[in-house]
Amino acid sequence: MNNEIAIAPAEGRVGVLLVGLGAVSTTFIAGVHAVRRGLAKPIGSLTQMGTIRLGKRTDHRTPLIKDFSPIASLDQLVFGAWDIFEDDCYQAAKTAGVIDTAILDQIRPELEAIKPWPAVFDRQYVKRLDGPNVKRGSTKRDLADQVADDITRFKREQRVDRLVMVWCGSTEIFMTEGPAHASLETLERALEANDVSIPSSMVYAYAALKLGIPFANAAPNLTVDVPAMVELAAQTGAPVVGKDLKTGQTLMKTIIAPGLKARLLGVTGWYSTNILGNRDGEVLDDPESFKTKEESKKSVLDYILQPELYPDLYENLCHVVRINYYPPRGDNKEGWDNIDLVGWLGYPMQLKVNFLCRDSILAAPIVLDVVLFMDLAKRANLAGIQEWLSFYFKSPMHAPGLYPEHDLFIQLMKLKNTLRYLQGEELITHLGREYYD
Ligand SMILES: NC(=O)c1ccc[n+]([C@@H]2O[C@H](COP(=O)([O-])OP(=O)(O)OC[C@H]3O[C@@H](n4cnc5c(N)ncnc54)[C@H](O)[C@@H]3O)[C@@H](O)[C@H]2O)c1
Repeated sequence: MNNEIAIAPAEGRVGVLLVGLGAVSTTFIAGVHAVRRGLAKPIGSLTQMGTIRLGKRTDHRTPLIKDFSPIASLDQLVFGAWDIFEDDCYQAAKTAGVIDTAILDQIRPELEAIKPWPAVFDRQYVKRLDGPNVKRGSTKRDLADQVADDITRFKREQRVDRLVMVWCGSTEIFMTEGPAHASLETLERALEANDVSIPSSMVYAYAALKLGIPFANAAPNLTVDVPAMVELAAQTGAPVVGKDLKTGQTLMKTIIAPGLKARLLGVTGWYSTNILGNRDGEVLDDPESFKTKEESKKSVLDYILQPELYPDLYENLCHVVRINYYPPRGDNKEGWDNIDLVGWLGYPMQLKVNFLCRDSILAAPIVLDVVLFMDLAKRANLAGIQEWLSFYFKSPMHAPGLYPEHDLFIQLMKLKNTLRYLQGEELITHLGREYYD
């Protein structure tokens, strides 16, 4: 056993602050209530169903993660949200159309009690949306203060002990890091000056981090992935993580690509297209929001396949990603991948993947895990970027100068080793010599 890290106990109520009460948020909240009531199982959630091996294979110690790591239980979670629409969580879940009414009706009072607070919203950053439930403020700093007031009131009224904020709002337009994001000082000046380089998501993130609240970004927006926010997080001891939940097509990509690379099979082309009919699909139909998503989806293959190390196999890879808004499908996305492969002596092959998935059904368990692990990180005093949670993201945040780890299996190993490390257990290297000595 190594030294155990001091971790504050998981007891008390954990407030989950969701920015955006759309398909992902409502599927997550309704799912937690349904599981609590024994109406369904938390499939897809590592914290609820995953196990972790401890010690040697011959030790036969494989507890559930939730029994091993001091994470909060589902009964401890309390939800609050902001949205530009006034619909409560029950109505919003019905609009999203992901979970059957038969289940929603059994948890209706709990869902109806969650009424979204007015949002910080500006159409400049999400062109395809508009709604009435919006805050007015003289400056972006003033709007951040109003968000902080919402948080403080929620904490008091719901008798919440700790909080976690997750951006589950729409994908904002593509933005790159600029002078306003360089330091906390420039960021605060930009908030006062209503600088255009501060989108709504940064206003929420600033409010949360200032209060030391962990912040996770489920979307590909820049948001906390700038030096100013990382500086603020370090100052207030808040964990941050993102960006863009790894579901659907990219999840498949990060499962298949490491396998092809492990066997040194070449890839000359990877064409991904999909149809999606929910509000997310509608927002992504705007080229500026799509660009944010495209950047996030495209970086994955380059990092996994490492063309600079394997030029013969991956140098000329043509990678194309398309998202098509197609209303009849709603949240049930259909993705097609065509992968052009090269084998022994350069002989070509093809692999086709047709994934009929449900976007929010894949995303909800990730939001749950991220919330519980971010709360753990906070109690373990792990401030700043949480690279061990890369497992859940398409564009994992990472320290400057480091490249992100995209391989799902390496990411899982990192995550589980972090859990072992926190509890003072031996890390598992998979060397395995000891069984043969
Ligand atoms: N579902 C998935 O598998 C998945 C995967 C990765 C990332 N994401 C991202 O997660 C986010 C949410 O996805 P979704 O399917 O729930 O979308 P959605 O359109 O159903 O929900 C987003 C909600 O956010 C609200 N919103 C937008 N801007 C806001 C603001 N400034 N303040 C408060 N509310 C705001 C919208 O009104 C909407 O209700 C999107 O950015 C999406 O790209 C989803």
